[in-house]
Amino acid sequence: MRSLNLDSPIVAAPMAGGPTTPQLLHAVTAAGSLGFVPAGYRTAAQLSDDIADARSGSGQFGVNLFVPDPNPVDIAAVRRYRDLIAAEVEALGAEVGPIVPEDDDDWDAKVDLLARDPVPWVSFTFGLPDTTVVSRLRAAGSRLLMTVTNVDEARAAANLDPDGLVVQSADAGGHRGTFDQHRNPGTENLVSLVRAIVAATRIPAIAAGGLADQDSVRAVMDAGAEAVAIGTALLLADEAGTRSTHRAALTDPTATTTTMRAYTGRVARGVRTAFSDRYEPHVPAAYPAVHHFTSPMRRWAAQNDDPAHLHLWAGTGFRGAQEVPASRVLAALQP
Ligand SMILES: Cc1cc2nc3c(=O)[nH]c(=O)nc-3n(C[C@H](O)[C@H](O)[C@H](O)COP(=O)(O)O)c2cc1C
Repeated sequence: MRSLNLDSPIVAAPMAGGPTTPQLLHAVTAAGSLGFVPAGYRTAAQLSDDIADARSGSGQFGVNLFVPDPNPVDIAAVRRYRDLIAAEVEALGAEVGPIVPEDDDDWDAKVDLLARDPVPWVSFTFGLPDTTVVSRLRAAGSRLLMTVTNVDEARAAANLDPDGLVVQSADAGGHRGTFDQHRNPGTENLVSLVRAIVAATRIPAIAAGGLADQDSVRAVMDAGAEAVAIGTALLLADEAGTRSTHRAALTDPTATTTTMRAYTGRVARGVRTAFSDRYEPHVPAAYPAVHHFTSPMRRWAAQNDDPAHLHLWAGTGFRGAQEVPASRVLAALQP
């Protein structure tokens, strides 16, 4: 089996939407870990600035891209869900956003940028890039990582001959990378998932999901992972851009996590809220359309310190997150 040849087996997962700040990325790479610039929700022009900033630091970094869903969302279902939450959102004094039927997260322009101005690593989530994109980025000199959540996805990714697979389990905070957003992702534990995927593909694996202490890191590495990616464990780090309402939820002794589509239309793990409980039975699998019309509500919630109307992404290991410098979080997890 090939190797990823990383300086440290602890990788900092990309966290779009605020938590991964330039400061967090610099702290992670300076500590010898691979870090990722999250491209999600950024325009290609913003990403270009983010990359320039990442280059000014020391150490290795990559860019993480959201692969757009080629299938259109069910607009009638999206409209019904929007109508359903509207009364509650408007009663807050917040707004429900417009329906955005299509949004590819500026995919083509981001791929063009990375082909023109390559970075050492590119990782993908929510699906696979096509062979043209793979060839262009590889020709530009980038090493490629693909996020997978089961053996079938891993086999499909293996056909593109990536340098590594990011094996993400149900314990992971944030969105699940499941290719088909209509499918309810599996709940197999990370150790079993890593073992099965490494056996099926013989491609180096970076294990992600719920890792918050040295023992759990050792267990997935013993199962065959070459490295691990941690997200939630860094959410309270001094350099993270995690909003204060989100930070407070992570330290609330009554908090529990669950998987939910309610805020964005795509399965994600976060702190359970009254909103997620109330609307989960009604939400269609329609990312990013649901993400777009709940976005003003979530912005309002962040400004008004209202945890119920904010997506509070967190993995099952959230109790292990600490308010310390990121370098300490990484050092404490070294196997
Ligand atoms: C706040 C947050 C944002 C995330 N954003 C992204 C992202 O932009 N791209 C991505 O591939 N994964 C994203 N993830 C998932 C991580 O890549 C990773 O799979 C996960 O954090 C690992 O599980 P853990 O959170 O239990 O450590 C995010 C996770 C969190 C908690």
